Amino acid sequence: MRVLMVCLGNICRSPLAEGILRAKANKKGWAIEVDSAGTGGWHAGETPDRRSQKIASEHGIDISNQKARKFKRQDFDEFDLILAMDTENMKDLLLLAPNEKARNKVKLILNYLNPNKNQNVPDPYYGQMADFEKVYNLLDQALEQFILATPKA
Ligand code: 4NP
Repeated sequence: MRVLMVCLGNICRSPLAEGILRAKANKKGWAIEVDSAGTGGWHAGETPDRRSQKIASEHGIDISNQKARKFKRQDFDEFDLILAMDTENMKDLLLLAPNEKARNKVKLILNYLNPNKNQNVPDPYYGQMADFEKVYNLLDQALEQFILATPKA
């Protein structure tokens, strides 16, 4: 199974989601391929925000080698599931989706934690370390539920 995490800049939220899911999958011995991208390309080529790297590292997860990139239409073919961090990301992805099959691949990540609530992972970019901790905890809980709800990959 191939999963793509998507946020706006691909430097704060989706790189964390990528690292967390990869770590959980490795622990389970699952062969999941995980990547992340941004709907915007301003930070393409950059490593994740220092604060995301720090909170990941505090939980034993190294995301320092990940590089930001912009989401591309081809991603709809290359991934089975595309997890958006907030409703704005979701809206942007749905506008790019070429057909129903592509649209059906896009899900809001926090709906794995709180079904049908359509909650956002808040953008921590202009925030403090505490905001990154909150993002980490939300993603960790949502991805734990995702793992439980997904047949062994
Ligand atoms: P992210 O956070 O979408 O979680 O990576 C942001 C990073 C950069 C910007 C916005 C959000 N930015 O405007 O540059």
